[in-house]
Amino acid sequence: MTSQNVTSPVLATDQEGAGIRFPEGFVWGAATASFQIEGATTADGRGPSIWDTFCATPGKVNNGDTGDPACDHYNRFREDVALVRDLGLGAYRFSIGWPRIQPDGKGQILQAGLDFYDKLVDALLEAGIEPWPTLYHWDLPQALEDDGGWTNRDTSYRFAEYAGVMHKLLGDRVTNWSTLNEPWCSSFLGYASGVHAPGRREPASALAAVHHLLLGHGLAAATIREQAVGSARKPLVGIVHNQTTIRPNTESEADLDAARRMDALRNRIFTEPLLNGTYPEDLRADVAEISDFGFVQEGDLEIISAPLDMMGVNFYNPTWVAGSTDGLDPADFDVEGEYSPSVGSEHVITVRRGLPVTAMGWEIDSTGLYDTLARLATDYPGLSLYITENGAAFDDQVTGDAVHDENRRAYLESHLRAAHAAIEAGVPLKGYFAWSLLDNFEWALGYDKRFGIVHVDYETQRRTVKDSGRWYGRVVQEGGIGG
Ligand code: NOJ
Repeated sequence: MTSQNVTSPVLATDQEGAGIRFPEGFVWGAATASFQIEGATTADGRGPSIWDTFCATPGKVNNGDTGDPACDHYNRFREDVALVRDLGLGAYRFSIGWPRIQPDGKGQILQAGLDFYDKLVDALLEAGIEPWPTLYHWDLPQALEDDGGWTNRDTSYRFAEYAGVMHKLLGDRVTNWSTLNEPWCSSFLGYASGVHAPGRREPASALAAVHHLLLGHGLAAATIREQAVGSARKPLVGIVHNQTTIRPNTESEADLDAARRMDALRNRIFTEPLLNGTYPEDLRADVAEISDFGFVQEGDLEIISAPLDMMGVNFYNPTWVAGSTDGLDPADFDVEGEYSPSVGSEHVITVRRGLPVTAMGWEIDSTGLYDTLARLATDYPGLSLYITENGAAFDDQVTGDAVHDENRRAYLESHLRAAHAAIEAGVPLKGYFAWSLLDNFEWALGYDKRFGIVHVDYETQRRTVKDSGRWYGRVVQEGGIGG
């Protein structure tokens, strides 16, 4: 049923030191997201999103940080496009803020919002950078949440309409469209554990949200493809997931079963309907007590499983899980950790293995990226894959005009080597986007966590390319590392 537990070590030739070259035509980029960088949350008629509301709710976001000023990208986008160009990147992945286009998520369309993304895309193209927009990176118009958000089927149709508006505007210049970014976070963190907006703690609602997000993806993809019929530019439509390798802590039956459950809830709940037109039977049995999947209507799965032109993978770390706490040191596990919500009757325990960690506390292990890619290529042959995010937060120090972030550079190098090993093993991996171009608003953790390859001083809005950014620029220029 699944190749989940097949692990393939990174090849010896891809260990540090050996020279590697990526294939001709490999896409090199960096990524951002609207709410995390734009700021200007009330400019030009933009409506509130669920993240504006969440930020305004005491205790939800670290330090009470909000979407302002972020990186003030709304006013400084030309400077940021120049940064991407100076780094030598061929592609830039950004997201479109739905409430900038439709303040209420339906009806009224704001010309100022259209103009902003129109100018951004033109500036990118003038700089020789391929635009890779994502239509939804979590900033749902609050007005739609007031009507139930992603638990309401109507939101899927509103999303498809908005996708049509954006394709009409940009379809003559944009080829690569991503519908959703990490729907796992939108559904499980937003509606089950509540650590992300809208902050609801209703496990059954999270499952309805999954389905309506997937339906929204399918309807949006169909709209974009229909609108493009007869036009010169054929759109390539994909979706971005935070798929990851779930590893059992031991080979015990309980741990193996916990890994299966978590893999179903994190990975297969998305890939199976998208790529095989069905929700996994074992998942449905696991959550039977809280949901009968009554939200699935006839025809939905056909819409959802229309062929994908590509799938994006956002990879940060693999996850180890146990089925029981027996024998574990209390310091090394979380029962139903907020960022790994269990949905259903039994618990899955997230285990720390004592590896080096980033400032997020995420364990660093690039073999997890290799395994994630290899597993997707095995289970869904022929699917074009892109790493749409990969990177690390560290507590950077600014020294004069520089940030010497060897830890981030080493993280990027080990993951690029893992990506290269996957290509050598036959995985159809076509591109890599570093997360992130800029330090930015890291959701519930606010501005403290810095993922950028470019440092942002939020007081002055000064940008400083970090050592990792310079190194990444050289990798892109040379099409590989060393040798
Ligand atoms: C994935 C999300 O897409 C992005 O918004 C976030 O900042 C990074 N993970 C790091 O947590």
